Amino acid sequence: MKILFVCLGNICRSPMAEGLLRKRAAERDIPLTVDSAATSRWEVGNPPYPGTQEVLRKAGVDFSMMRARQITEDDFYRFDYIIGMDQNNLQDLKAIAPKETKEKIFLYMNIVPGKEQTAIPDPWYTGDFQETYEMLTEGLDKWLDLFEKDAK
Ligand code: 4NP
Repeated sequence: MKILFVCLGNICRSPMAEGLLRKRAAERDIPLTVDSAATSRWEVGNPPYPGTQEVLRKAGVDFSMMRARQITEDDFYRFDYIIGMDQNNLQDLKAIAPKETKEKIFLYMNIVPGKEQTAIPDPWYTGDFQETYEMLTEGLDKWLDLFEKDAK
């Protein structure tokens, strides 16, 4: 099972999701490939933003290898789930996804009952990385339950 998280810059939200999911999957012994990418090319080559680094450091996640990259057409075929953080990400993804891959695209909070349409606010603008961490954590085990079931 291969999971790709996507946000606008790939330096705040999606690398945080990538690191947190990879760690939790290892704890639960669920074999997954986890990666993240941007819809834009603005931050390509850059490491996670300091606020995301701080969250990942506290969570005990190694982010030293993470560099922002832009999503490619190949990603839509290679990954099983492509998970965006907000409606803009979803719109951008659906606009560039090859037709037969559009059903792989989901909103992150879609897995949390009662919050199906909730966007993860962009800490690049809000400055609130703790809020991002808490929202991502809400969905983490729910996504893993699904991936675990899907893999069987
Ligand atoms: P992200 O946040 O999409 O969560 O990585 C952003 C990072 C950079 C920019 C915007 C959002 N930017 O404008 O460069």
